[in-house]
Amino acid sequence: MRLGLDFKFVFSYGLAKVLWIFNKEEGRIYMETIVMRQPDDFHCHLREGEILKFVAPFTAGIFGRGLAMGNLARPITTAYDAVRYYREIVRACGSSRFKPIMSIMLTKKTNPNIIGDAGKRGIKTLKLIPGNTSTNSEDGISLWDIERSYLNLAAAQSVNMVFSIHCELLSDESGNAIPEEERESKAISFLDQLITFLPKLKIVIEHASTRDMIDYVKRAPENVAATLTLHHATLTRDDVYEMDGSIISHNYCKPIAKTADDREAVIEAMMSGNPKFFFGSDSAPHLESAKMRFPPAAGIFTAPVVLPALCDLFERRESLGRLEDFVSRFGSEFYGLPLNSGTIEIRKREWIAPEYIGGIKVFLGGTRFGWRVDSPIGLA
Ligand code: NCD
Ligand code: ZN
Ligand code: ZN
Repeated sequence: MRLGLDFKFVFSYGLAKVLWIFNKEEGRIYMETIVMRQPDDFHCHLREGEILKFVAPFTAGIFGRGLAMGNLARPITTAYDAVRYYREIVRACGSSRFKPIMSIMLTKKTNPNIIGDAGKRGIKTLKLIPGNTSTNSEDGISLWDIERSYLNLAAAQSVNMVFSIHCELLSDESGNAIPEEERESKAISFLDQLITFLPKLKIVIEHASTRDMIDYVKRAPENVAATLTLHHATLTRDDVYEMDGSIISHNYCKPIAKTADDREAVIEAMMSGNPKFFFGSDSAPHLESAKMRFPPAAGIFTAPVVLPALCDLFERRESLGRLEDFVSRFGSEFYGLPLNSGTIEIRKREWIAPEYIGGIKVFLGGTRFGWRVDSPIGLA
C-alpha cells in the first residue's frame, strides 16, 4: 500500500467529489474515488417472474430509482397492472431501498379515464412502443395513427404524466418497410405535429440514437428531452452486422446502433451538460435461447456494467465532471422528482466483467474496466 507517503486531496465538480492521492515516492497522482449523488435509471426493463428476481438487483444495487418499462408478455396498461408490477419489483429487490418509477403502455384500448386513474395513482409515464417495433410491442399503435391518441395524450398532459416514445417509424405511407437505420430519423416529422398540438406535454424520446434526433431534441421546446444509453454510445452498425449481413445477436437492439457520427452525437450530448439529455440504460435482458432465434430478440443487458463503463467513457473524454448531472440530476429534474439524497462511491479499481450472468450475455462482458462500484450484489 502506498499510504503513509501519500497526500489526499479532493476536487469537487458540483456535488460530485473526486478524491486524488499523491504518491511522493512515485511523484504521481492517482484518481482514487468518485463520490456522487446516487444515480437513477430512467429506462429499464426489469422483466417479470424468475428473470425479474435475477436481474432487478443489478439495477437496484446501484440506482436510487428506475423507470420500469411495462412491455411484459401481457403489457402493463392500467394503474391496476402497474401497482401489481410495482409490488413484484419491490419484492424482487429484497432489502434494497430502490424505488421503481412506474409506466403504462399506450395501446388502442387506452382511454382518458385509464390515464386519469394512472396519474392519480402516481404513475409517471405513458409509454408508446409502436406496434411490432420491439419486444412485446404488438399492442402499440403506429405513429401513423398517433392523432387518434391525442385525447389520451391530452389526458396525460393534464395529470402531468410524461409521454415516453420509442421513436421509430416502421413503414412509409404506402406500407413499404423502412430500413432499420432510417426508422428513427423518419419518425421526427410526427413529433413536430404532436408538439404543435400539445405544446405543454412533456415528451421523452427514448434511447435517441442518431445525430438527426439529437439535433431535433436540442432545438425542440424545453418540454422535450431524450434518454441516452451506454450501448448507443459504444456500438456502431458494424458491431451489429457481420460482413455477410448476419446479425451479431448480442449487440442487437432497437433502435439499432448506427454510424460512428451518430454515436459521436450521442456521446457529445451525454457530456454536453444540456439538461435535455439524461440517462436511461434501456438495459433489456433476454435469455440466450431468445437471442439465438432468427431474428434475435432485440435488447442488450447492460445493467451489470453500465456505471463503470460510463465512468471509463467520461474519463477518456476528460468529462468526469459532467457525469453526475447526466446520471443523477437531469432526469429527476425533468420528471419533477426530488433528487436522491444518498451518495454512491465509485473506486478506481480494475475488474473484468463476466461474459454471462445466469445464462444471460452481459454487454461488454470480458472487458477490463477501470472503475468499480461498491454495490450490495458485489459484482461491479
Ligand atoms: C427492449 C426490450 O427488450 O424490452 N428492447 C430493445 O431492443 N431496446 C424494448 C425497447 O426498449 O424497445
Ligand atoms: Zn424502445
Ligand atoms: Zn427499452
